[in-house]
Amino acid sequence: MLNAFALAGVALVIGAMLPAQAQTALPPISSVGHGSILGANGKDVAPTRALILASQKYYIDRLLSQLPGDRQTQLLGQRARMSSGRAVVEEDEVYANSIFIEKLISVAKPADALAMDSINSVIVNQYAKMVRPPGSVAAVSGIALAPSAIMQAAVDSEGLKKKQQDSEGLSGQAYIDACAAAGVPVPPPWGDKRWKSNGRLQTKFILETEVAEVFWYGSKSPVGVCIALPRWKENDKKNVNVGALGIICQGNTTGTSCYWDNMKKKKPVDIPIVLPKDATVPLTTFGGGDDLIGGNGICTDCHAGENTFIVHPDSALDLGPILRPTKWVRPIVPKAWNQNPGPSSALDKIVLKEGEKSCLRCHNEKDRNRFPTLSLATLKYCTTILPQAVEHTMPPTDDDAPPSPRVPFDGTLRLKSPAYKTHVDALLATCQDTGATAEQMAQIVKYLENKWENPTQALQ
Ligand code: HEC
Ligand code: HEC
Repeated sequence: MLNAFALAGVALVIGAMLPAQAQTALPPISSVGHGSILGANGKDVAPTRALILASQKYYIDRLLSQLPGDRQTQLLGQRARMSSGRAVVEEDEVYANSIFIEKLISVAKPADALAMDSINSVIVNQYAKMVRPPGSVAAVSGIALAPSAIMQAAVDSEGLKKKQQDSEGLSGQAYIDACAAAGVPVPPPWGDKRWKSNGRLQTKFILETEVAEVFWYGSKSPVGVCIALPRWKENDKKNVNVGALGIICQGNTTGTSCYWDNMKKKKPVDIPIVLPKDATVPLTTFGGGDDLIGGNGICTDCHAGENTFIVHPDSALDLGPILRPTKWVRPIVPKAWNQNPGPSSALDKIVLKEGEKSCLRCHNEKDRNRFPTLSLATLKYCTTILPQAVEHTMPPTDDDAPPSPRVPFDGTLRLKSPAYKTHVDALLATCQDTGATAEQMAQIVKYLENKWENPTQALQ
């Protein structure tokens, strides 16, 4: 797909070697939102490849014009090196431009940086849709650009890796577009038959008294998976209404993840939407991105680690290798949330004694199953996920002890396998060491007390 735009790209770079002039022209794309693109006159326009390239050129020129001449020259040098010495296909050009625009936004810090960021990701996503075969799932849902290895290498060698994304300012369609542009699969509407049931969940760490059924949607392009977990009250006589319905999608190649929840985006209070079980619901109806602030919990407080899912091995949630990304997962979530910065080092220096066993036997890099960094940002992982895991699901293999008996909490964890005590203690100590106040840490104890004082709340 070599074409005139590749040349136009080169011309653009060379033309702009001279310090850019302050710009007065209107942007070819003035704003984006709810799936539509508005042109310079504020009216809907059909995206075309030419319009997208023209918009990229507009933003590059505009951002450069805000910088001193020597900085412009230096940045243009970077951009030129990404494409130099070879013919560049259009998709690579669009990709390099979008990365360059991100860089320029971060350097020039324009007042409308957020809006520009969002236009930048939406138009790239539109471009990706256009170049995929019409009618293909990839074209319908919109997927990230697929730069060639040589362009990716050129971008990497300029130190211009895609920036850490969060969802700041994004919700609705703009959040979906940003997720797609970051390589996260976009699922079909809830209720669509492409969502496959994998059966009900028996082991539940939260909302134990409700029924939870696992639905999943596998995506080949981009490679990844979405899981939806509707939960409803068993004693709901009509048994028709779903109370909670979270959706999480993970892009396995890019290592990115996105989150949606059935909540009404109503200020000042968010009210959960009760859905008829057989309803078809577009993704835009769900809360996503910054909508989730103040909603039903901080998803990444619990959903943290090498992959974003919380998987009880051998349960309906255990979809196998498709859950494993090839890169540590960075969530696209509100800025204030846990950004899942990287693997925990809590167990690195622990020396085990004879007979003691290691959680790292499975939670290691090779198995793509490392623990998250434990901090205040993962307090819920510390209080909700970890204690229940070591009592009931971890380690999962049969050569270890059976699950501990369900007895009221008396201040000690009943490990499924006591041989792992040293590692468990070290993990919990890390939770404690990260600056949690005594009050915050008391949540662990309080949580367990509440849980075990009421035996009917025990796991099934
Ligand atoms: C307090 C911890 C906690 C928080 C906060 C949380 N979850 Fe979960 N979530 C869980 C647990 C635990 C499971 C596994 C099922 C179970 O044990 O109940 C789960 C499972 C899921 C699943 C099924 C796939 C998987 O990872 O197992 C989805 C989808 C999901 N949650 C979405 C969300 C969304 C969206 C949010 C934020 C709005 C969220 N969750 C917040 C604890 C949490
Ligand atoms: C024999 C292998 C193995 C060992 C040993 C093991 N785990 Fe796991 N663990 C797994 C697998 C597999 C999963 C599912 C992970 C996935 O697919 O995302 C898991 C999931 C988890 C989860 C997510 C929540 C859950 O239970 O579903 C936690 C927390 C966890 N392990 C903690 C531990 C701790 C702490 C230890 C040491 C006490 C440990 N594991 C030992 C294999 C193991």
